[in-house]
Amino acid sequence: MEKLAIGSDHAGYEMKLKIIEYLKGKGYECVDFGTHSADSCNYAEYGIAVGKAVASGEFRKGILICGTGVGISISANKVNGIRAVVCSEPLSARMSREHNDSNILAFGSRIVGIELAKMIVDEWLAAEFQGGRHAARVATITDYEQNR
Ligand code: RB5
Repeated sequence: MEKLAIGSDHAGYEMKLKIIEYLKGKGYECVDFGTHSADSCNYAEYGIAVGKAVASGEFRKGILICGTGVGISISANKVNGIRAVVCSEPLSARMSREHNDSNILAFGSRIVGIELAKMIVDEWLAAEFQGGRHAARVATITDYEQNR
């Protein structure tokens, strides 16, 4: 079964543990890049760590959780090759895979409850990039990133 890189800051810590348990129950292997306690920390460190793990090719997908999903996704998006999305509902999560080939899903523990978070994760993991006309658009982003 697929291996996922997962990370959070302190605000996302408790929800991350629940999501890891949920995903393990579905047969996923989750590698936790921290944080490893509810003590206050810097979301950027974990966003970048998971971003690097996905960009390196070691993991195909990652999941990040902070208070809003915003800071940790911005951080991950600074790593070349990362297309991290913040989603608070399942449709955006699915579309981000199908049209944008997102490789990291982020959400906020202060924004969504655990049951909605599970639905968002399920939808995102089940969806596949559709390619076609969307591939050219994603390629434009990648070209810019690699040649700036
Ligand atoms: C931490 O208080 C909070 O700022 C962080 O979890 C996140 O929401 C930042 O975007």
